[in-house]
Amino acid sequence: MSGLVVVGTQWGDEGKGKITNYYASRADMVVRFQGGANAGHTVTVDGKKVVFHLLPSGISVRGVKCVIGPGVVVDPFALVEEMDYVRSNGIDVGENLMLDVGTHLVMPYHKAVEEAEEKGRGKHAIGTTRRGIGPAYSDRYSREGLRCGDLIPFDRFRSKLEESAGRKNEILTKLYGAEPLNVSELVESMRDVSERLSPHIADTLNTVRSALAEGQNVLFEGAQGALLDIGFGTYPFVTSSHTTAAGVAPGTGVPPKDIGRVAGVAKAYTTRVGAGPFPTEADPERSKIICDRGAEYGATTGRPRRCGWVDAVALRYAIALSGVERLIITKLDVLDAVETIPVCTGYRVDGRNLSTFPRDVETLERVEPVYEEVQGWMTDTSGARRPDDLPDRAVAYLRRLEELAGVSIAAVSVGAASDAIVEFESLL
Ligand code: IMO
Ligand code: MG
Repeated sequence: MSGLVVVGTQWGDEGKGKITNYYASRADMVVRFQGGANAGHTVTVDGKKVVFHLLPSGISVRGVKCVIGPGVVVDPFALVEEMDYVRSNGIDVGENLMLDVGTHLVMPYHKAVEEAEEKGRGKHAIGTTRRGIGPAYSDRYSREGLRCGDLIPFDRFRSKLEESAGRKNEILTKLYGAEPLNVSELVESMRDVSERLSPHIADTLNTVRSALAEGQNVLFEGAQGALLDIGFGTYPFVTSSHTTAAGVAPGTGVPPKDIGRVAGVAKAYTTRVGAGPFPTEADPERSKIICDRGAEYGATTGRPRRCGWVDAVALRYAIALSGVERLIITKLDVLDAVETIPVCTGYRVDGRNLSTFPRDVETLERVEPVYEEVQGWMTDTSGARRPDDLPDRAVAYLRRLEELAGVSIAAVSVGAASDAIVEFESLL
């Protein structure tokens, strides 16, 4: 068995796409297990920037099988558009892509409902990506969802869709006073999309399990991050799926004991998009420096990300949740111009030290981070490819992060280019 899970340990955007893509060249299969088009995984292919939302980040690597597992929610229109987009970038999408029969569909009414809900929340809005993720998972759990397997035969799908869309139109018009969706137009557009996706729809459970049983290298690509997990994140400012490594089993049908090793990805600093507590958020001036140097604008929504420092309390919490065995640090080069780097080593609240990450946002909003200042290296690290290429102070920063996290660092990324990475230890 040789599975490797790549998950985020912060609030998403840790660089999971680049890391998955990096390891994909040594993998046989890449599997997405949760989330949907809310993800924005940026990868550099032949020097060109390509963003994946639904397709596994291994799709650009020839010979790698890509699976969208049953824990994902798929917007079929977005997927078809993305397939066309990656093809226009010279990437082949054919038999290398499989979409599980149990994967739930995100329909336009999910987005419309989310739009209305977010508006209704007023100043308590979550700041979602408006990709219909929450409403689609809600339908899944209330057992009203439509799944990829339902698309075939289309006539049966048609009546299910008409029923679901009719119910959602009632909610949209009567509860939210919003415009209803045109159901017959939706059915017709789904007919085209369904034809495009049908060749890829299959029962993927045995495909993934057999690959593992045969000793193939299988990468499980997480989306979002531990602090956005529906059960353990900063609820309600979270996404609607299990973003930790624990999500792999229900998201793929692989039993927990067979999943394999877990690598956690963290930025050399921290970012967050959307609302919710963020104890180590930097002051606007320093936040802007990181934001500009790190091009911290959402890959899905284009929103500027909130930027701050590494939070070791949150990181330890995320590592414990996912059982992270090795860390991969990304965007180290963004800190090349920071003279001293604050790192949060603990929290204080009401004059007391807190040793664990609070489980409620009210407390998290009140914590005062305890900072330690680490000397910056003020040297360009973007050209580093081997451990010896890194300045001593950058190495010292990484060693300090390892101490605080209690886990060693397997690799560090120093730029957007696909080879801009320094490996300390091979994970695959
Ligand atoms: P990747 O895979 C960063 C955030 C949204 C919002 C909250 C809920 O690129 O790391 P949702 O649309 O999921 O219901 O929004 O979660 N969010 C992300 N933030 N990266 C992501 O994905 C995210 N996916 C969702 O900004 O705060
Ligand atoms: Mg993102």
